[in-house]
Amino acid sequence: MADIFPPQILCVFGSPRKGGNTDVLMDSFIKGVESAGGVVHPLYLRDMKLFPCREIHACAKSGECVLKDDLTPLFESLMEVDAFALSSPVMFYGVPAIAKAFIDRCQSLWARKYVLKMPVATGRIKDRKGVLLSLGGSKGNKLFDGVKLTFRYFLDTLDASPWGEVLLRGVDEKGDILREKEGLAEAEALGRQLVEALLLELKEDGSGG
Ligand SMILES: Cc1cc2nc3c(=O)[nH]c(=O)nc-3n(C[C@H](O)[C@H](O)[C@H](O)COP(=O)(O)O)c2cc1C
Repeated sequence: MADIFPPQILCVFGSPRKGGNTDVLMDSFIKGVESAGGVVHPLYLRDMKLFPCREIHACAKSGECVLKDDLTPLFESLMEVDAFALSSPVMFYGVPAIAKAFIDRCQSLWARKYVLKMPVATGRIKDRKGVLLSLGGSKGNKLFDGVKLTFRYFLDTLDASPWGEVLLRGVDEKGDILREKEGLAEAEALGRQLVEALLLELKEDGSGG
């Protein structure tokens, strides 16, 4: 059998804080992905020029977003990669504004899928996987409800579904994450397991590319 082209994972850094807690958590996940032979495509939202959706709805006719910014050239890889990971702090029980702007801009993909009945997952895997890495400063039961719901419907738009998560409470000040040895190890293991699962899937259906 031909070699499997390594699994491609889009890793979206959703926090405005550089080197913050979710950045560190995502770096652990990435360590796991790379140790298992996966290829990471990092997306640092805070460094991008990214307009929020303006509800022009041109995408409902063409499947393409008419706003032109740093996201424009990335829609293709959003459609082609094998899996997604999002790192997101909880902000007012939801995702940060930059992450929400990015997600809302995927409305053009929603329109492709649900209005135009066009394929969204155009790469090797049609039912893709998503990993959520999230944390917040407080400890309430419902802390992740908003983030999880948004992430699930974001994934649905991408022809993907939730596959794994690491959710940590009581992580607030920059650097607090370094105390969370178990959470960091969990994220690294999840990265490894994701690549192993994808490799197995690609071998089974022979779509190594
Ligand atoms: C604007 C803002 C809103 C926040 N809202 C919440 C919240 O609703 N619940 C919570 O537990 N923590 C909240 N936090 C705390 C962050 O989730 C926490 O500091 C986290 O560690 C930040 O992660 P980061 O370093 O990756 O940005 C908020 C922080 C900011 C700046």
